[in-house]
Amino acid sequence: MLTDAHNRIINYIRLAVTDRCNLRCTYCMPEQMQFLQRRELLTNEEILTLLKPLAAAGIDKLRITGGEPFLRKDLMPLLTELTAFIPEISITTNGVLTQPYISQLKALGIRKINLSLDTLQRERFLEITRRDQFPAVMQTLYSLLEHDMLVKLNVVIMGGVNTDELKAFAELTKQTPVSVRFIEEMPFNGQGHDFSGHQWNYLRILDSLREYYALEHLPGTPQSTSINYQIPGYLGQIGVIPAYSRTFCGTCNRLRITPTGGLKTCLYGSDVLNVRDLLRSGASNAFIMNEIRNALGNRAADGFEAERQNQHWDSMSVIGG
Ligand code: GTP
Ligand code: 5AD
Ligand code: SF4
Repeated sequence: MLTDAHNRIINYIRLAVTDRCNLRCTYCMPEQMQFLQRRELLTNEEILTLLKPLAAAGIDKLRITGGEPFLRKDLMPLLTELTAFIPEISITTNGVLTQPYISQLKALGIRKINLSLDTLQRERFLEITRRDQFPAVMQTLYSLLEHDMLVKLNVVIMGGVNTDELKAFAELTKQTPVSVRFIEEMPFNGQGHDFSGHQWNYLRILDSLREYYALEHLPGTPQSTSINYQIPGYLGQIGVIPAYSRTFCGTCNRLRITPTGGLKTCLYGSDVLNVRDLLRSGASNAFIMNEIRNALGNRAADGFEAERQNQHWDSMSVIGG
């Protein structure tokens, strides 16, 4: 079992398989991005070498993120190998390239897909993502639902941009078993310090929804990042993710691995170890596991508070969300 300095059990890894993306969401990255060289990324073989002992030590949940995971050419072979020893694998994707893979994912037993979608309007999608890919993403959404996948929509709420669409998103849950999650904007835009977000925290989002609906609270697990609700009579669910308010740090069960093998014990913290460098220097699995356990032994109770003074906000694409 993996535990941290505060006796939190770590059973969940978020692995960002690439920093590359085919969108340019304004809250995530600037238009001109300098992406990593391929040789800097963890290879499939390295990922498997790393994750096998972690799975043996109790990691039973893996989320594949990016960047956009489906831009990685060898993603499907990687997933095929991973499903052999990790019970629950889920993917966070922007949906642009995802549709053709849905049947294969289902056959592998991967059913949990989180789709990033911040607007239901094509013009606005172009403004937010700087790419005209709304039809492709909607096609993926419909196809996921047709294949009975468990779909969560990640909607980053931005003051003055999409707050007028809360109701339209909520209405999606009327006839479809989708879970719509409104996320507080975080400062990970890859553009330094000019973060003006958080005008809309989760309480304001909920207040705004309650103008239209009598939200019924749904019980959740202590580790969940989202607080979930249902509109009476509606099929799907609505959630809010207090990602910037961070109401869930006390029960955080997550460890992050960046595309270059950086280990993060908090989304808001710096890399505490580089497992790729250890692997490439020939370190044994036992040595690497020991280093990971040591890093967890130094884990702060709240990584944001620990790092508050040296805030250096990367793009979310290199952190993996
Ligand atoms: P589920 O297992 O489906 O609940 O996934 P998730 O919510 O952990 O993952 P997803 O990739 O869909 O992320 C949704 C949002 O939650 C993203 O904006 C993440 O950055 C944010 N999030 C996830 N984990 C953390 C965390 O440890 N701290 C903070 N502050 N935000 C997080
Ligand atoms: N603030 C909040 N959420 C973000 N995401 C990406 N960048 C940000 C940000 N600055 C979300 C995307 C994606 C998830 C992994 O992270 O919506 O679905
Ligand atoms: Fe790409 Fe996701 Fe970042 Fe948007 S938020 S640019 S889809 S990595």
